[in-house]
Amino acid sequence: MNSLETVFAGVHFKNPIVPASGTFGYGREFSELYPLSKLGGISVKGTTLHKRNGNLPPRIAETPMGCLNSVGLQNPGIDHFINEELPWLKKQDTVVIANIAGADIDEYRQVAQKLDDTDVDMIEVNISCPNVKAGGAAFGVTCEGAAAVTKAVRAVTKKPVMMKLSPNVTSIADIAKAVEAEGADAVSLINTLLGMRIDIRTRKPILHNNVGGLSGPAVFPVAVRMVWQVANAVNIPVCGMGGVSSAEDAVEIMLAGASLVQVGAAIFADPLAPVRIIEGMESYCADNGITDISEIVGAVKPY
Ligand SMILES: Cc1cc2nc3c(=O)[nH]c(=O)nc-3n(C[C@H](O)[C@H](O)[C@H](O)COP(=O)(O)O)c2cc1C
Repeated sequence: MNSLETVFAGVHFKNPIVPASGTFGYGREFSELYPLSKLGGISVKGTTLHKRNGNLPPRIAETPMGCLNSVGLQNPGIDHFINEELPWLKKQDTVVIANIAGADIDEYRQVAQKLDDTDVDMIEVNISCPNVKAGGAAFGVTCEGAAAVTKAVRAVTKKPVMMKLSPNVTSIADIAKAVEAEGADAVSLINTLLGMRIDIRTRKPILHNNVGGLSGPAVFPVAVRMVWQVANAVNIPVCGMGGVSSAEDAVEIMLAGASLVQVGAAIFADPLAPVRIIEGMESYCADNGITDISEIVGAVKPY
């Protein structure tokens, strides 16, 4: 067994590094740079029942140590994913995580049900989407909303279900407990933090959507804090993300309690970031006499 091998929610990963949803497409462009088999897995762009065009531009803005995006859920729809992208992805010798989204509970249910019949390895459920039937607040900002999506997805699939939590909440530990109680196999966090920028000359928001999600190194301490709180609150495994851009960051978020790590915005600055992080973690294990990376999961020594 190599030192980075990981079993997460019953799924075997050759290492714990996974490009984050929305920052890697379906991996095709990156496969020209390196074999995707180097990766622990891939979390693909969020998929909805039908094709969506996403939000109007401008929809991405640089910020100090990060980026603000309002891409929205631009995607070709679940049938296209299953028929055109999944067969190719399954040939890449890496774990395939389908990231799903919905405008209402029924959309989540239908998308999850379609995936249940495929050979996708895991379903990651993005609950930071607005609930159109409840005034547009995200499902993931209340325990009730997060629990309702989990229950609906759980009912239609035997695949491992990983609920992706929103950081725009008062108590992320309570939301994690609510999804665990409804049968989630794992949680992933954090999604982006809601932010806004304004052009002081035109007095217009920089993003057409007015507000957007902040990600990148700027959010890393928030992610570490939330992973630590959630890992201490639930008994299911935690996938950590938010600003991870180096092997040192990956180790740090694992010490906080993550057993799998996703890398998002760092890929925009360096398309090779996930591979660089994997290699750095191999060196870290060799230098520190670590034979099994699970040794460091949650090994922080709090005061
Ligand atoms: C351009 C962009 C698109 C994203 N699209 C999705 C998405 O479709 N589904 C999802 O669950 N998260 C999406 N995210 C959130 C990321 O997967 C990740 O949770 C977040 O960016 C924090 O990690 P990072 O700081 O490493 O980027 C997106 C992020 C960015 C920057």
